[in-house]
This record gives sequence, structure tokens and C-alpha cells, in this order.
Amino acid sequence: MNAVPLKLLLVAGARPNFMKVAPIVEALRQRQKAGAQVSLKLVHTGQHYDALMSDAFFADLGIPQPDINLNVGSGSHAEQTARVMLHFEPVCLAERPDWVMVVGDVNSTLACALTAVKLHIAVAHVEAGLRSGDRGMPEEINRLCTDAVSDLLFTTDELADENLLRENIPPGRISRVGNTMIDTLYRNLARARALPLPEGVRPAEFAVLTLHRPRNVDSRDTLAGLMEAIVRISRRIRVLFPVHPRTRRNLEDFGLMAPLAANENLVLMPPLGYLAFLGLVCRAKMVLTDSGGIQEETTVLGIPCITMRENTERPITCTMGTNVLTGADPGRVESAASTVLGGAAPSGRVPHLWDGHAAERIADALLARGGWSPAHSTAEMLAG
Ligand code: UD1
Repeated sequence: MNAVPLKLLLVAGARPNFMKVAPIVEALRQRQKAGAQVSLKLVHTGQHYDALMSDAFFADLGIPQPDINLNVGSGSHAEQTARVMLHFEPVCLAERPDWVMVVGDVNSTLACALTAVKLHIAVAHVEAGLRSGDRGMPEEINRLCTDAVSDLLFTTDELADENLLRENIPPGRISRVGNTMIDTLYRNLARARALPLPEGVRPAEFAVLTLHRPRNVDSRDTLAGLMEAIVRISRRIRVLFPVHPRTRRNLEDFGLMAPLAANENLVLMPPLGYLAFLGLVCRAKMVLTDSGGIQEETTVLGIPCITMRENTERPITCTMGTNVLTGADPGRVESAASTVLGGAAPSGRVPHLWDGHAAERIADALLARGGWSPAHSTAEMLAG
């Protein structure tokens, strides 16, 4: 095992982070048991804080309680990012980790990467190199900036490697390991599939809808157009819709909620835990979404996915998987749904290394590097 003891802070902040850290915690714990000299502390920034957006995922995925919670909560992008940085810096100074590991592309990801690199702590980014080319999305800025300051970039596929190389990231920093979210999917699929479906709902006779991107839900016209398309689709197939807090608030504020709530074939639900949601997706006829991760999960499950965005940072889900992009145009959304309902669903393949073992590769790569020697130590920074 590694000779140099390694101290790691692993950061999670928002809902899509939790399924990415779960298998990494597990892989590191296994290696600790086998004698690897690694200490791990889990940091929750508190970006997502509702029981349904956070606690439910820790419970479902068996993630240990965070060692440190920064409790930053909601705010504008600047407020949220700044608050995470302000709260994370003293943690880094007190803990003096060799590595800070961040996952995904949320505000917490960027905030913790920036804080760490400025203290000359090595940064590892899991799910590096994804690019939509759309700088209007906050996540794209988070991805670009996090990758630019990371020392070790763990990627999910070769397109991500190519993006990083194009941005002049040294090849030695890039490590293609596969997809930790898919590790979590494989670990939990049998349990999720065994859950009962909602009353009256039969496998392959319903669609699942998720919608939360600011671009889709913060403008009344766009949200109203999308919901009109969904209502038309719901005349042909029952649609189950777990509603994100941002979307619920906007549907109410825009006066769009009442007609939806009255539609029996469009079932509005609170946000679901990981298992309950996966239990629906894996038995759905199709999924309509603007999420990132769900595009990957449906590709692995072979379920048709209609992504209501003009672009994706996960193009492999379109070229290899079951994903099609429609933007927010109601006509295109409806026509993509008609194609699936007409029996012409795209079939897909699972990308290389999305095999359930990505987190093990990450743990081994990190342990192989041991305690990293930055050009200037944190102690020097403090002294200086
Ligand atoms: C964040 C991520 C997005 C990810 C999404 C998954 C960024 C820039 N965006 O978006 O990439 O796809 O999480 O959900 O980091 N709220 C609650 N309870 C909570 C959390 C949020 O009610 O536990 C409400 C608040 O009104 C908040 C709003 O949701 O203002 C948005 O939350 P925020 O964390 O800012 O962004 P998300 O839209 O969730």
C-alpha cells in the first residue's frame, strides 16, 4: 500500500453530488480496512439542505453523516459561492489535507476547488472535462474554472479527455476512470426495482418528468410552453413529475400550478429520494428532463430520454445512448415523445468504463499519488 499517509477532504454540496461521492467513500473505506494509510473527512457545504434534497440521499445511499457541515444554504451565485469559500477556508486551514476532492459542477464544487488551490492544497475533480460549450449555464463556468485549477482530473469518457487536452491541461493530470454515478446506479438498481410503483401505475406505461434549469423554469413563457407540451403528452401517457423546489415556487408564482394540479394524468410529487426515483426511471416508458445526470442514467438503463435543452455536456449519451435533445420548444418536445410512444425509441450502448468500478479506480489513483508535495506548503502560506 502507499507509503505516504494521505489526508483527504471529500466535498459534496447539492443533490447530484451525493450519488457521486457515495461509492468513493465506500472504496476508500475498503482500502483503509485493507491497511491503506488514508484519512477521509466528508464535508457537506449545505448548498442543498432540505430533508428531501439532501438527508434522503444520505439515508438511501448509506453515506456516513458528514464530518463537517458548512450550512451555507441558498443565495445568488456570488453569495452562495462566496459563503462556501468563507466557510471552507478555515476548515482547510484547520485540517491541512493533502487533497481536496470535489465532484460534479455545482457552485460548491467550484468554491471548494478555488479555496483549496489558493491554499496550495492539491485538488482532484471527479467528472472533469464535461463541456456543453454554453457559457450561459452556471454549471459550464463551474466546470471550466474547476478543471483549470485542478491537479488531478478524473474523467468519464474520451470526449472529456479531448476537451481537457484542447484546453491545454497536461495529459499527466488526466485519468479516465468511468462514472461514479453509474457505480451507484448498479449498486442500487435491484433494490430500486423491487420498490412498489405508485397505485395504478404499471411498468412501461408511464413517463417521468424532471425540470429545474433556470433557463427552463425561471421565465414564465418558457415554463408555460413546456408545461403545455407536457399536458398534451399526458393525454397519451401518464406523467409522474417530482417537482424541484425552484420549479414549484415558479409554477406557483406564475399562476401555472392550478391547471396542472387538476390534471389526473400528470402526477405532481415532492422531490423523491434516490431509490424511489431510480425505481420509477428504470421502469418508465421514457424520461423527459433537463437534468445532466439523468441523461447518463437512462443511457445505462436503455430508457429513452428526451432532454429539454439545446445542448448537453454529456454528448456521449446522444451518440451512444438513448438521449435526444429538443431544447425548450414545445413542438419538438411533443414530437420526440410521439416518436417514443410510436415505438421508434432509440436503442443505446453503455460507454466504456461505466461498469460500476469507477470509484475504485479513483481511490487507487489517489493512493498511488500519496501525500502530494505542492510547490508551497500550507504552513508556508500561513507563515507568509
Ligand atoms: C443546483 C445546481 C445544479 C443542479 C441542481 C440539482 C448550481 C449552480 N446549480 O441547482 O447544477 O442540477 O442543484 O438540484 O450549483 N432550495 C430549497 N431547498 C434546498 C435547496 C434549494 O428549497 O435544499 C430552493 C431554494 O429556493 C433555492 C433554489 O431551490 O434558492 C435553488 O437552489 P440552488 O442550490 O441555488 O440551485 P439548484 O437550482 O438546486
